[in-house]
Amino acid sequence: MEIPRLAVLPSPRRGSETLSPPPRDRMSDHDDHTTLFRQSWSIYDAIAAENYMFHREIYEIVTRQLERRAAMGPYTLLDLGCGNARFLAPSLQVAPPARYLGVDLSPTALSEARDYLDGLEGVSLHEDDMVGFVAMSGAKPDIIFTGYAVHHLPTASKARLFEACAAALAPGGEMLMVDVARKEEQDRDTYIAAYLKLMRDGWTAVPAAMIEEACAHVAAHDFPETLGGLFEMATAAGFSSAELLDHYGPHHLIRFSI
Ligand SMILES: C[S@@+](CC[C@H](N)C(=O)[O-])C[C@H]1O[C@@H](n2cnc3c(N)ncnc32)[C@H](O)[C@@H]1O
Repeated sequence: MEIPRLAVLPSPRRGSETLSPPPRDRMSDHDDHTTLFRQSWSIYDAIAAENYMFHREIYEIVTRQLERRAAMGPYTLLDLGCGNARFLAPSLQVAPPARYLGVDLSPTALSEARDYLDGLEGVSLHEDDMVGFVAMSGAKPDIIFTGYAVHHLPTASKARLFEACAAALAPGGEMLMVDVARKEEQDRDTYIAAYLKLMRDGWTAVPAAMIEEACAHVAAHDFPETLGGLFEMATAAGFSSAELLDHYGPHHLIRFSI
């Protein structure tokens, strides 16, 4: 299958190619792969607060994308795996959607999201699986956003998610995906080993015990695809183009358009 248009705007940033940590296997169910977020949300928050996953740079671009959409008129945004929405909330304040739907499996994260999204109109939060929610909610979002969540899904579920998103989006809609991805030549074990090394060697401002807990989560529950794999799935699902808007090592921002 032909890979859709790919515009590589960025070049790898300083330090972005040095990754690290551990490998593992299949997630068995939602309880497993959301354990970190249900029990130790503070670990992800601590890591993100140090900007180790380049939230600052990537969400700046997300803000510009939302500003562009808001200039076209009122819009609806669906946030898949919204977590506590801590990093998207400032973007939403700059370019407020008429309606924001957040979906996540973690009640802890959703409870925090209520605070981060305080003051924003039209907010609804849903404790649900993202794939089923997109397919069943009946919402016709103009923007589907997802931040560091899709890599938790098995490949077949990712393909189903793309199909559901392509079907759910309003005409002219777009999907903005922030997520980790493997290099084309990297298998999962090699990717995980590199990412764990990055975490252990580079994420030194976070206590080592917390990093080890996060490493165990990554090793067990991260299943990133290559960009080519994601683009193929999107094409098969009916998206007409995919653009890499930026990346910092394995941390990518991709736009899929209908
Ligand atoms: C790393 S956090 C990212 C949170 C936020 N989007 C961000 O960018 O900071 C991943 C989130 O995805 C959620 N998640 C993972 N699998 C999910 C699924 N199948 N359906 C809904 N949420 C899911 C987790 O509960 C967690 O809150």
